[in-house]
Amino acid sequence: MEKLFILFTLCSMILIASPVVHGNGPYGVSDGPKALKHWYRRLPQMKQKVTQLHFYLHDIVGGPNSTNIPIAMANFTAQSPTYFGMIAAMDDLLTAGPSPNSEIVGRAQGLFGSTSLEEIGFHMTFSFVFTSGKYNGSTISLIGRNPFFNEHRELPIVGGSGVFRLARGSALLNTVLYDTALGDAVVEYNVVVLHY
Ligand SMILES: *[C@@H]1O[C@H](CO)[C@@H](O)[C@H](O)[C@H]1NC(C)=O
Ligand SMILES: *[C@@H]1O[C@H](CO)[C@@H](O)[C@H](O)[C@H]1NC(C)=O
Ligand SMILES: *[C@@H]1O[C@H](CO)[C@@H](O)[C@H](O)[C@H]1NC(C)=O
Repeated sequence: MEKLFILFTLCSMILIASPVVHGNGPYGVSDGPKALKHWYRRLPQMKQKVTQLHFYLHDIVGGPNSTNIPIAMANFTAQSPTYFGMIAAMDDLLTAGPSPNSEIVGRAQGLFGSTSLEEIGFHMTFSFVFTSGKYNGSTISLIGRNPFFNEHRELPIVGGSGVFRLARGSALLNTVLYDTALGDAVVEYNVVVLHY
């Protein structure tokens, strides 16, 4: 009986010590600055996790439902075979499968610029904004170089919010569908992320 009680006490302690995930405010985001400070105080005791994510990004360039629009370009850009100097905004759909009608995971929102004179290559700074499941409300921040016509590209993960607070990691991307006439693309993402 005593043994059982000790076991029960231990289990309760483990439960209390493990991080609490709130539905809409992961790790206390909606609980305000106090919860944030508490989270950072607990950080030395927290264990790092490795999470793997897999989804598809739908980049629509042309037509009425465009999710990728140019903001500005230099005079030089029009003469450049690589669109050097163009800056654009994107708000691309992320889905679980390659079809745009498959389960919605979230959006990829951010800015990118054409920053290569030699090939079509973008400097990207954007977030995965998750809108479903246990990552709903959390984000992952990426910054890096995306040489668009390379078969495989890698983008560094430099941070995150919510479940992915203080995240680091890597995203591997490859284009599974590219419409040369419209410029629309479906890009597969394999993500490995370290977080707490
Ligand atoms: C654009 O979106 C609307 C509303 O979802 C849809 O009815 C229409 O078919 C779409 N147009 C194209 C060209 O995809
Ligand atoms: C850019 O092109 C426009 C129109 O051709 C011209 O008026 C302007 O002076 C050019 N600007 C620069 C910085 O070259
Ligand atoms: C995600 O969270 C938002 C805001 O808290 C909520 O309105 C929405 O219903 C949630 N979506 C899903 C798919 O759980």
